[in-house]
Amino acid sequence: MPAAIRTHAADGGNAQLGKQVTWAAPRHNSQVHPSEPNALVPLPNAMVADGIEIKMCLDSQIHIGSGDSSFDYLSYIARSVIHGLPSSAYLIVTDRNVAKFHLTSLEAAFQAVIEEANVRISSKVSTYIMPSGEGTKTRETKADMEDWMLASGLTRDTVVIALGGGVVGDLVGFVAATYMRSVRLCHVPTTLLAMVDSSIGGKVAVDTPLGKNMIGAFHPAKHIFVFPHFLVTLPAREVANGMAEVIKTAAIRDSTMFRLLASSAPDVWQAFKDVKDASGTCMLESRLHLLQSFIASSIAIKSDIVNADPKELTGTRNLVNFGHTIGHAIESLLLPEALHGEAIAVGMCLEARIAVTKGHLTASELRSLRDCLKAYNLPTSLLDFAKQHRCCLHLRKGRLQVQRQRVQVPFLPQEGPRLNGSPALDRNGTLSSCESLDRAPRMEM
Ligand SMILES: NC(=O)c1ccc[n+]([C@@H]2O[C@H](COP(=O)([O-])OP(=O)(O)OC[C@H]3O[C@@H](n4cnc5c(N)ncnc54)[C@H](O)[C@@H]3O)[C@@H](O)[C@H]2O)c1
Ligand SMILES: [Zn+2]
Repeated sequence: MPAAIRTHAADGGNAQLGKQVTWAAPRHNSQVHPSEPNALVPLPNAMVADGIEIKMCLDSQIHIGSGDSSFDYLSYIARSVIHGLPSSAYLIVTDRNVAKFHLTSLEAAFQAVIEEANVRISSKVSTYIMPSGEGTKTRETKADMEDWMLASGLTRDTVVIALGGGVVGDLVGFVAATYMRSVRLCHVPTTLLAMVDSSIGGKVAVDTPLGKNMIGAFHPAKHIFVFPHFLVTLPAREVANGMAEVIKTAAIRDSTMFRLLASSAPDVWQAFKDVKDASGTCMLESRLHLLQSFIASSIAIKSDIVNADPKELTGTRNLVNFGHTIGHAIESLLLPEALHGEAIAVGMCLEARIAVTKGHLTASELRSLRDCLKAYNLPTSLLDFAKQHRCCLHLRKGRLQVQRQRVQVPFLPQEGPRLNGSPALDRNGTLSSCESLDRAPRMEM
């Protein structure tokens, strides 16, 4: 299905579908375009806002907002992009769901910054809306978007802004990696999963019928804007979906965070309600701080791991794949019913179970993992999942061919705490190893 195409109606709504609109500032200065499209211009000091934590992951600046409702996060994003990455063209790409909630306001913020009298920029801002859902993360959608960009005359200095969840981020990031041999990319994650995981670390990809994320690249974004404000509109199931990656991150690296996560599920759920109910300036209360500390901690852990092994060459980065070898197999088979985090939750339990049989994890650690996932309404077995979505078990009965998959068995890092505090590595000192599932114990499917 072709993606919907929209351009910003800077003329007050008279712009036609498929036609780009240029926002011209009062004074034109052609010098603002960098000769090197990948140059990252540091933000002016005035833009370093209170309450924004900035972390580096590879070449990406990650801006983590505090969630303060009085903070104009949209303007901050637009300013950071426009001032930090001067360009003749900014392209905001999102999906239909996200467009309903967040596109107009982000477009308006870009327009306002470009129209500021003191900004000497002549740039055009356009938008591209694709269908939503994992089924859209394909080579076909990528080609549609590329063709549209070419037809729109977008050049190599274009800055592409991916506004959405992991699907938009992965697909748009891959387009940015290859369009005219790569253009600059910014992520504006709008799901919890994208905030804590998919937008961090530079991996971009599309799925193929033979497997998830099979065709892709490493293309780190210049800026990643993590603002919990976007979560206001996220459905509860998607919140749980993101919590699966948060739990995974704690389980591989930080036992204190893991225990806190396990014990504070009610507070975290309430924090999302607080975000939804927030009015005025009273958003910053303790429960919201807790949620944001989990987001920030997850980002910090993933960034450290990615910085240590950017391209998965030493095995360190494999740590963040905990649950994903089995999880991806489950996800491929149960799409579109299963969400990524749900499949990964089951995958973590199954991989952890293998680790138990190999003596790398205790039965009580496995129990803790299951309890924690359950506290966030995540399935811990396919049976659990089937209870929630009966049709899945029925449709797929007898077709879970994971025997042929290679299963990555997670080990917790030597220097970092395990769930119960004792380190474990395999004999070779690697953080993970592969076992063929057919040599592994029978799985509870
Ligand atoms: N690149 C990586 O390192 C990496 C890591 C983890 C996951 N991933 C990928 O991420 C993808 C899953 O990402 P996801 O869980 O964000 O899914 P998603 O992008 O499909 O988003 C989930 C749903 O929520 C909607 N949505 C997004 N933001 C919203 C908001 N603020 N309010 C209301 N609705 C909103 C979307 O339209 C979609 O329908 C998978 O394809 C997975 O492979 C990539
Ligand atoms: Zn994942």
